[in-house]
Amino acid sequence: MSFLTGENAPAGRILAIASGKGGVGKTVMAAGLAQAFSAQGERLLLIDGDLGMANIDVQLGLSPQADLAAVMSGQVLLEDACEPVLGGAARPGGFDVIPGRSGSGGLAGLRPDAVNRLAAACATIALSYERAILDLAAGADDSTMRLAMAADDVLLVINDEPTSLTDAYAFVKRLRIRDESAAPLVVVNNAPTPDKAREAYAAFKMTCEKFLGYAPTLAGIVSRDEHVPLAIRAQLPLGQRSPDCAAMRDLASLASGLAAGREAA
Ligand SMILES: Nc1ncnc2c1ncn2[C@@H]1O[C@H](COP(=O)(O)OP(=O)(O)O)[C@@H](O)[C@H]1O
Ligand SMILES: [Mg+2]
Repeated sequence: MSFLTGENAPAGRILAIASGKGGVGKTVMAAGLAQAFSAQGERLLLIDGDLGMANIDVQLGLSPQADLAAVMSGQVLLEDACEPVLGGAARPGGFDVIPGRSGSGGLAGLRPDAVNRLAAACATIALSYERAILDLAAGADDSTMRLAMAADDVLLVINDEPTSLTDAYAFVKRLRIRDESAAPLVVVNNAPTPDKAREAYAAFKMTCEKFLGYAPTLAGIVSRDEHVPLAIRAQLPLGQRSPDCAAMRDLASLASGLAAGREAA
């Protein structure tokens, strides 16, 4: 696993969106980044990898015909479960989605070999795109870790609440126990101000450095923005409902920074 995609990144790069605590904005981040990367010219696939509480389809107002659960039970091929959003991956700003489907929790209890098969299938289908974004479940359970390890880059979402920081620390610790070269990047979401976001990142970085001997890089900051919950209520992509809002602008600069392998300014 490595950071720095650079100009010559090969196709099929997978970016996993992770967090310690739930509700910090992973799905907002995953969907917003999908649109932002696509607007910057990448062919983009968004996969709902939250096996217990999948909800990308709800946030984006999709009515999927097929989902990961159907793929895992062998009823549908992964490529046939793709839903186009905003014209699909062939259009700038559009992308394809593989929904996970919520509620049943049916995928939460997948056995390790099934999760590994799922990760391998995601890596294969990602090769038809320039980048795949994998929206993970909160926390650091075995399935989530297996999916995170299948990604080339992991973006860890934190906010300025102490619980988000302690849980994110636990995630980094467990990931690096499995893979000592893992170098998750950090994004501070829902930032009331840039200063508060930097304080949260500094506290997180200090804890990681002190106890893990590893200082995660800050990839970006996304502002707290009332347009985010409004877009979710309207079940529309943020960049469609509010293309010029502060959070979408932050997501666009996060995407260009990630594509260029740049740290937060
Ligand atoms: N940048 C933001 N500004 C304002 N509210 C946000 C922002 N990011 C997330 N939220 C709020 O947080 C809630 C949880 O976001 P979600 O992406 O579903 O979290 P997760 O996927 O981590 O569980 C959303 O319903 C939204 O209202
Ligand atoms: Mg989510």
